[in-house]
Amino acid sequence: MVNKLYLKINKNNIINMNQLYKKFSIPCTNLSIIRWKPKAIIPIHNHKNQTCSMFILKGSLEEKVYNNTGLQGHYLVDTKILTRYQCSFINDEIGEHTVENLSNEDSWSLHYCKKT
Ligand SMILES: [Fe+2]
Repeated sequence: MVNKLYLKINKNNIINMNQLYKKFSIPCTNLSIIRWKPKAIIPIHNHKNQTCSMFILKGSLEEKVYNNTGLQGHYLVDTKILTRYQCSFINDEIGEHTVENLSNEDSWSLHYCKKT
């Protein structure tokens, strides 16, 4: 007999921000899938003590990377448009970032985050 692990996404695994951004955390993994509605944006944030990869499954996303200087605020160091099958990586050394769906269609991305 083969033991199978069935994973399901329930309410506790879904983060829904203003109906624009929906995050599905895949149980027992460091993986999540995000659906980005048109014009959805995640404000500047860090991934403290984590390494995170973002892989575009459908559509496109714009990522802006910033250095946080503390009192003098953030300054932009990189902007890139990621399209299907492209990947981006961020950690504390690279900086902080925003991610935005500039298009008029939904975009989907796969995320892998791991504590360092
Ligand atoms: Fe992020």
